[in-house]
Amino acid sequence: MLPGPTNVPDRVMNAMLQPMVDHRGADFHVLYSEIEANLKYVFQTENDVFILTSSGTGGVECAVTNLINEGEKVVVPVFGEFSERLAEKIRRRGGVPIEIVLPWGTAPKASEIKEIVEKEQNVKAIFLVYNETSTGVTVRELPQVGKIAEENNLLLVVDAVSILGGDKLPVDEWKIDVCITGSQKCLACPPGLAMVSVSQKAWDKIEKIGKKPIYFDLLEMRKSASRSETPFTPALPLFYALNEALKLVKEEGLERRIERHRRCAKAFYEAINAMGMTAFPREEENRSNTVIAVNVPEKGDDRKVREIMREKYKVLIAGGIGKLKGRIFRIGCMGIISQAEVVMTINALGNALKEVGCHVNIEGGLEAAMKAFQ
Ligand SMILES: Cc1ncc(COP(=O)(O)O)c(C=O)c1O
Repeated sequence: MLPGPTNVPDRVMNAMLQPMVDHRGADFHVLYSEIEANLKYVFQTENDVFILTSSGTGGVECAVTNLINEGEKVVVPVFGEFSERLAEKIRRRGGVPIEIVLPWGTAPKASEIKEIVEKEQNVKAIFLVYNETSTGVTVRELPQVGKIAEENNLLLVVDAVSILGGDKLPVDEWKIDVCITGSQKCLACPPGLAMVSVSQKAWDKIEKIGKKPIYFDLLEMRKSASRSETPFTPALPLFYALNEALKLVKEEGLERRIERHRRCAKAFYEAINAMGMTAFPREEENRSNTVIAVNVPEKGDDRKVREIMREKYKVLIAGGIGKLKGRIFRIGCMGIISQAEVVMTINALGNALKEVGCHVNIEGGLEAAMKAFQ
């Protein structure tokens, strides 16, 4: 129940037990084409999609290094650990992040982004973390941000590492030029792959970029993709796994999968309320459906609680990171998630909190979770 890596279905695990074929041969070409087609379905895009042998950070770094020249201004809302890292990546690339710094637990508003975009001269792009995994906040106004980017002729780059496949994200409809996700979150695949979509508007910039990266060169990736290959040796077992994981998404149907995540998140939030606890995000509409962030109750030693959950109940959840260390619990509501996982997690969390001396209404929490599924 971590916010990544998440549980992997047996079918996906077993898919990795296949021969290490020639990645310049016919078998790989078939595998690559299948993944590519199903990725377009999951991203809801007609744009190009690429599979990178790297974790999510590599995907984000790929976007930064292919799209930003030295000295270029980029608007970046900063409202948690991952958006802070994004701003830092842009800075290290030599870009100039125009940061909209917000309290952790809140989400940037489209109007705030619009104001900065119109005030600042010569902004080239908006880089945005759609789901802040460190605070459990989703930017619900992303579609409006897409309109702002389009109207101002800016590129829109979205870090969707902890949300794609678990909540609404129609890449083309929302005018997202580059969208990045990771294998180990909502797609329920092992860690180690990043996926990136690239629009024509983004290509126009990439083709003229000054300093190109080597490992993450998107132009080389496009050249290789025309032969259904990757420029360098791909992590073959993970490609097999991703292929199977995407087939599972397709079998379930994206809409149904998103609805399942939404229902499980609702059950979590209602159970947490009923137990007498509070969610960390300030506004209800910005609460994430994929990462449930919960304030640690007074007297609730977060490390001890998680240790009891792990040892006694075999349930893993995460703690806070960065400035939220020790202050929140983070529960992954991603991938393989259903009533059973929600109820087991609520039961484990409630009992562990009770054991450390917190007053929580466990029965009320369980009842509320069950009711949410009826
Ligand atoms: C929003 C977001 N961006 C980027 C990353 C980095 O991904 P990885 O740890 O796979 O490199 C994460 C990881 O949790 C994330 O949640």
